[in-house]
Amino acid sequence: MNLRQTAIAIGLIGALGCGGVQAAEPADWSAVPATTVGLFYPGVSPIEWIVNGSAHGGWRGLKRGDSCLECHSEETGDMGKKIVSGAKIEPSPIKGKAAAIPVKVQAAHDGANLYLRFTWKQPPASGAPAMDKDNPVKVAFMLEANQVERADLSGCWETCHQDARTMPEGNKDKTKYVEGGSLASGVFYDLIQWRSNGEKHDGYIAEKRVMDGGTALVDAKGEKQGDTWTVTFTRKLTGGEGDVALASGQTVNFGMAIHDDSATGRFHHVSLGYRLGIDAEGDIQAVKQ
Ligand code: HEC
Repeated sequence: MNLRQTAIAIGLIGALGCGGVQAAEPADWSAVPATTVGLFYPGVSPIEWIVNGSAHGGWRGLKRGDSCLECHSEETGDMGKKIVSGAKIEPSPIKGKAAAIPVKVQAAHDGANLYLRFTWKQPPASGAPAMDKDNPVKVAFMLEANQVERADLSGCWETCHQDARTMPEGNKDKTKYVEGGSLASGVFYDLIQWRSNGEKHDGYIAEKRVMDGGTALVDAKGEKQGDTWTVTFTRKLTGGEGDVALASGQTVNFGMAIHDDSATGRFHHVSLGYRLGIDAEGDIQAVKQ
């Protein structure tokens, strides 16, 4: 190694080293267990619809403590079909839009970082005009540390409201928010997003949605090979403002969304709520590498 190479090597060690722990995603992702998460097109089903007993037959069960996943895990594909066609809770259907996107989710950690890898097959394009011209695809996930009431049952739905800006009766100034949310009191969802134009965001949702300012996100990268997308996130276990602090032995709430087909706002595909365990029980488990 000459002097210049040595300098580069030291620089690299400095960049990767985090308190002496090297940040590296699993060398062999194929050895990491995968969970298939059924994302579906949710139409107009904000939390106000979910908790309206005469609109949603599941409300009584949810009140008793059943989760969305317990009732619906086997039928997300059918739900998506019904909704995307306009047969139910979608007043302005987009012809040709995918009903559902099954995503393979893998999770791992190395004591310093959480690694999340999402793999899915690109559905056919609808051919409708692009809503987001810069990004054919955006991928987001949320983490919640059992502080938002009911989030262990309902996943991201606590952030989805009928007055959000792209809802039929939306308020142009409102995005996602949590009823009773408070960053200061720790009642929030951590939000991380990757966009196909290469942008990445580390924000949160409490009183309102904030896209940036978190310090947990280390990297987010994605690529399409053939018709298969692979998006990988590297996130420090702990971060700063609006970052859920993760630790071994803990289970948090997890939900994800894909804005496929150049979508914006509510025109995304979403998952039901899952439990993510860090060396702990959960629907998805991040096992130490
Ligand atoms: C106790 C079981 C149960 C729970 C818990 C439950 N649901 Fe439902 N849900 C139903 C049933 C039954 C229907 C269909 C009939 C209806 O709409 O009343 C339904 C319908 C829906 C629909 C409309 C699509 C369709 O196939 O009719 C959506 C969307 C939905 N539920 C989302 C959710 C979400 C999100 C949650 C959690 C926040 C949830 N449900 C919790 C039972 C449940």
